[in-house]
Amino acid sequence: KIGGVKKVMKKDYISTQDFTKEELLDIIRLSLLIKKNIKAGYSLNVLYHKTLGMIFEQPSTRTRVSFETAMTQLGGHAQYLAPGQIQLGKHESMKDTSIVLSRLVDILMARVIEHKTVQELAQYSTIPVLNGMSDWNHPTQEMGDIITIFEHKPAGKRIEDLKVVFVGDCTQVCASLGMMITKMGGHFVHFGPKDFQLRGEYVDILEENCRVSGGSYLITDNEEEALKDADFIYTDVWYGLYESEMPKEERMAIFYPKYQVSMDMMRKCAPDAKFMHCLPATRGEEVTDEVMDDPVVSICFDEAENRLTAMRGLLVYFMGVKDLTTEICKKNLGMK
Ligand code: CP
Repeated sequence: KIGGVKKVMKKDYISTQDFTKEELLDIIRLSLLIKKNIKAGYSLNVLYHKTLGMIFEQPSTRTRVSFETAMTQLGGHAQYLAPGQIQLGKHESMKDTSIVLSRLVDILMARVIEHKTVQELAQYSTIPVLNGMSDWNHPTQEMGDIITIFEHKPAGKRIEDLKVVFVGDCTQVCASLGMMITKMGGHFVHFGPKDFQLRGEYVDILEENCRVSGGSYLITDNEEEALKDADFIYTDVWYGLYESEMPKEERMAIFYPKYQVSMDMMRKCAPDAKFMHCLPATRGEEVTDEVMDDPVVSICFDEAENRLTAMRGLLVYFMGVKDLTTEICKKNLGMK
């Protein structure tokens, strides 16, 4: 089976925790196959005349642009629905917005301030809803990240053999990475200061994922233990996006220099370790210019490109395109 879309059981993509490893692997394979075909110059108009509604309560570069580009490449169209431009919030409830948009577009994505907003959107919609980031998780980032990890993993290693280390603050991206790696059966480490480590519900999820998949997790502030044999080092900004931001001096005092990803840190990992970042980055804080710009070590811009790879796969999967296998395999074999 190459990129075949099984019967879609779930309507929405709110959390990768709603999916089995096999279902997530299906989306990964599909995304990679579409990428291969698009790179080979084929046009896949499988979403011809379909419309994606994009609700953004927060600004975005990668999520917005990759969703919109994906719809264009697949023959469809995307509408940017920002606060102040639609009635949501001030004049109309999420429930009514969800019911109405379900009649006007074919699929929705939403970047929201609070996770319950995207859950409510999904509850009342009759069309698929994809979570474009909340204060709890970032599942489209997760999909782009795991695709990037598949593409850059050391030769001969399986996903289950990998050690993936998130360095720094326990942002929703950190939590999401942990969910995906442990779901896949890999080894996840959160290396961060004690008061900024994953806790509570997130730890319960990691525990359960590892029980099912055979993977492992470690939450530590011990550098040697965290970095030893690490295949991937991942970081994010040093301040929660949704909490009242700490003054810069306070943040720096907690995280710098121990948690800054530098070449010195990369040398303490496995010999071919790669650097990842969800972006945007605050150069000079969580990562040095030298690491970010290193053409061998840094794969953060491949990772940004794979947001588009992931969006195409997710859009096609959740739209349940029936003849996709035939269409894509024909193109893959060079048949017109
Ligand atoms: N990583 C990420 O989601 O980037 P944007 O905020 O630019 O979408």
